[in-house]
Amino acid sequence: MASLPSSLSSLLFLTLALILISVSPALSTSRQALDDHQDQPMKTGFKVTLNNVDSGGSFTERLLQATTRSNRRLQHFNKMVSNANNSNFRSGVYPADGAYFMNFSIGTPPKSYYGIMDTGSDLIWTQCRPCLCFSQPSPVFDPKTSSSYSNLSCSSDLCQNLESICNDGCEYIYGYGGGTIIFGYLATETFTIGGVSLPKIGFGCTIFTFDGEGFGDGLVGLGRGPLSLISQLDEPKFSYCLTSWEGTKNSTLVVGPQASVNLTAGAGAFNTTPLLLNPLIPTFYYVSLEGITIGGTKLPIPNTTFALNPDGLGGVIVDSGTTITFLEFNAYILVREQFISQVQLPLVDAFNETGLDLCFKVPSDPFSVQFPSLVFQFQNASLNFPTANYIIGDSRIACLAMAPSFGFSIFGNILQQNMLLVYDLSNNTLSFQPTKCDKF
Ligand SMILES: *[C@@H]1O[C@H](CO)[C@@H](O)[C@H](O)[C@H]1NC(C)=O
Ligand SMILES: *[C@@H]1O[C@H](CO)[C@@H](O)[C@H](O)[C@H]1NC(C)=O
Ligand SMILES: *[C@@H]1O[C@H](CO)[C@@H](O)[C@H](O)[C@H]1NC(C)=O
Ligand SMILES: *[C@@H]1O[C@H](CO)[C@@H](O)[C@H](O)[C@H]1NC(C)=O
Ligand SMILES: *[C@@H]1O[C@H](CO)[C@@H](O)[C@H](O)[C@H]1NC(C)=O
Ligand SMILES: *[C@@H]1O[C@H](CO)[C@@H](O)[C@H](O)[C@H]1NC(C)=O
Ligand SMILES: *[C@@H]1O[C@H](CO)[C@@H](O)[C@H](O)[C@H]1NC(C)=O
Ligand SMILES: *[C@@H]1O[C@H](CO)[C@@H](O)[C@H](O)[C@H]1NC(C)=O
Ligand SMILES: *[C@@H]1O[C@H](CO)[C@@H](O)[C@H](O)[C@H]1NC(C)=O
Repeated sequence: MASLPSSLSSLLFLTLALILISVSPALSTSRQALDDHQDQPMKTGFKVTLNNVDSGGSFTERLLQATTRSNRRLQHFNKMVSNANNSNFRSGVYPADGAYFMNFSIGTPPKSYYGIMDTGSDLIWTQCRPCLCFSQPSPVFDPKTSSSYSNLSCSSDLCQNLESICNDGCEYIYGYGGGTIIFGYLATETFTIGGVSLPKIGFGCTIFTFDGEGFGDGLVGLGRGPLSLISQLDEPKFSYCLTSWEGTKNSTLVVGPQASVNLTAGAGAFNTTPLLLNPLIPTFYYVSLEGITIGGTKLPIPNTTFALNPDGLGGVIVDSGTTITFLEFNAYILVREQFISQVQLPLVDAFNETGLDLCFKVPSDPFSVQFPSLVFQFQNASLNFPTANYIIGDSRIACLAMAPSFGFSIFGNILQQNMLLVYDLSNNTLSFQPTKCDKF
């Protein structure tokens, strides 16, 4: 085991600090280039492959794994929302495990890593030597072996945007819903992603981790907050195209000017809805969901159910890392009732194997049965989903890939599959275009 870095001798203090630290809750709500990068604008962009974390096992084993992770993520987000307002925690920098892995390299010469890409958090981090860490797939990054490594000072803009402790450098300590705690300090490095070199990216060098399984070699935050890769690159556009969750094909992430809908397919081939900002949690990508129609029946959902309130509660976020879709309880109940009344199949209790509470018994192939259509009405954009985006199953059961939540709702990744999502942060829009993502 590695010897304790000197800064870790105060770990007990820091653990207490996790509960006690107090920082200004004032947050910058605008996206702005940080000083650390003003002298080197990067307009290159890159394209990279994403792999779903769920693999192996039977259909129900994979599904239960995904619903369990989704529930953990929902709880984590709920904690972020409740901490954002009244407590000492600056939002948007917590790590969260996600659903997709991507490759990235760090340092000069570059060393390869394989970690979570996460649209629900900002901080980029990996474990650094010397380290009391969880075992990760790749050798732990050693700052001493890289010529482009440097520590960030407490006065740097990135550090000012991190909920930090200025002790032996710009240090952070984060607790995570599932029991994970990471501790480390901020540094800058040259990242290489999709073959493109990105100098001076601020990231967390994590030197202590408690219970960190599930992160691969670390995490690349793609949230809207100042610490995320997207904000640091000052690239206002990115897109991803997620392949079918039930398949094994790779998905794709594009960052930079190439992130665009296919305009030759015509204006009618995509939908565009405004992105909303929650000043309390600038990390999240909120959209305005105005209604849900099932099999032609518009549900009587009050317009307050999905509203993002001025107090920071409520709203609907689009998230790549949550597999199922969570609907605010009052809407979920209506959706569930409507499916039950329109689907002519017996109900089956498969909660213990799937983590989902609405499953039907099917005679053979679930897709030989007709399921009602599902339309989400977003502001200025009506999305008519293919059945495979909301009904998942095997030869025995077909389940609605949704669950209830309280407060805010999450537009999850099964519902996003085979759709190109283009995030444009200069226009504050999100565009959707039906796309065969395995051919993208
Ligand atoms: C990451 O890189 C390794 C080695 O080049 C490769 O085998 C793997 O497929 C890559 N994974 C992704 C998600 O691109
Ligand atoms: C960076 O900061 C860490 C933590 O304070 C320290 O252990 C390390 O030696 C520093 N590295 C450099 C290159 O200054
Ligand atoms: C998909 O990802 C896997 C695992 O990372 C990799 O081995 C394979 O080459 C990728 N396929 C394509 C078409 O990129
Ligand atoms: C864009 O749309 C056009 C017209 O539908 C189609 O022919 C073309 O293949 C699409 N391009 C891509 C990259 O999907
Ligand atoms: C509404 O959607 C259309 C077509 O998708 C798009 O051209 C237009 O810019 C959108 N308007 C707003 C306000 O987002
Ligand atoms: C909800 O609808 C009512 C009545 O149509 C309207 O007065 C109110 O502004 C709407 N609220 C929101 C949040 O859209
Ligand atoms: C934030 O604080 C205000 C005033 O104390 C309160 O009304 C609101 O519900 C709080 N919001 C959250 C997200 O806790
Ligand atoms: C789920 O519960 C049923 C009985 O209610 C039981 O037969 C089955 O083995 C359980 N499955 C799992 C995966 O626990
Ligand atoms: C986004 O904004 C730019 C200017 O800021 C404009 O040229 C472009 O047409 C806008 N794109 C869309 C899809 O509205």
